[in-house]
Amino acid sequence: MNIIETRDIAKRYVMGTEVVEALKSITISIKKGEYVAFMGPSGSGKSTLMNIVGCLDSPTSGQYILNNQDVSGMGENELAETRNKEIGFVFQTFNLLPRQTSLENVALPLIYAGFSKADRTEKAMMALKNVGLENRAGHRPNELSGGQRQRVAVARALVNDPSILLADEPTGNLDSKTSYEIMDLFDQIHSKGNTVIMVTHEEDIAEYAHRIVRLRDGLVETDLLNPNIRKAKALIQSLD
Ligand SMILES: Nc1ncnc2c1ncn2[C@@H]1O[C@H](COP(=O)(O)OP(=O)(O)OP(=O)(O)O)[C@@H](O)[C@H]1O
Ligand SMILES: [Mg+2]
Repeated sequence: MNIIETRDIAKRYVMGTEVVEALKSITISIKKGEYVAFMGPSGSGKSTLMNIVGCLDSPTSGQYILNNQDVSGMGENELAETRNKEIGFVFQTFNLLPRQTSLENVALPLIYAGFSKADRTEKAMMALKNVGLENRAGHRPNELSGGQRQRVAVARALVNDPSILLADEPTGNLDSKTSYEIMDLFDQIHSKGNTVIMVTHEEDIAEYAHRIVRLRDGLVETDLLNPNIRKAKALIQSLD
């Protein structure tokens, strides 16, 4: 089943008299359980595409079908609701609230979802445990290492139990060793049946995905199985 399907998606930004065609025409299908990397030069449209796929933004034209639902025509509120239900987002700069503890940061999406305080604490603790940080629950972001901050952000993305994890340059601010730790975490998340999509410009990070989509000037340049992962073929055949 395609969990994500974009049909001829375009995104134009109008800046005064100038029109930026961030995405010209993007048609891609992603099956439930895939692990995909978006690559491509700076300005090729990777973040624009991720933001549309993640329901943070809408396309100017074209259709976006998420989990059998046409979300292209949705307004802000509907979009936010769909996002909270289906998607966890991780950013390059972690985007944690600086004055809040790890536990409070992770619990934040549960407030919007309407859980009681006791349930929020329990679920957030569990999410922190899943990323190996239960012993850092009371720390604030500036009391954590970069890798730990990103793990808190991953816990926050997953606390609502979404089926899709999206990550825009999740290792962009991390050293190699810490980057691989985050990628190991993504592997675990993927092996539990989640769909994972990440943007990266690092080839060795993209190697973790089984499929690599390269963008150029707002178009898909190539869309290939990762030849370095033998599992890739087996995985794609096992999905329907
Ligand atoms: N809000 C905006 N308003 C106007 N133009 C924008 C906006 N966001 C992005 N763009 C333009 O759209 C194009 C694609 O931007 P995007 O951020 O998607 O690129 P990217 O592939 O993520 O690049 P990078 O690797 O540098 O993060 C760029 O030319 C950018 O300047
Ligand atoms: Mg970007």
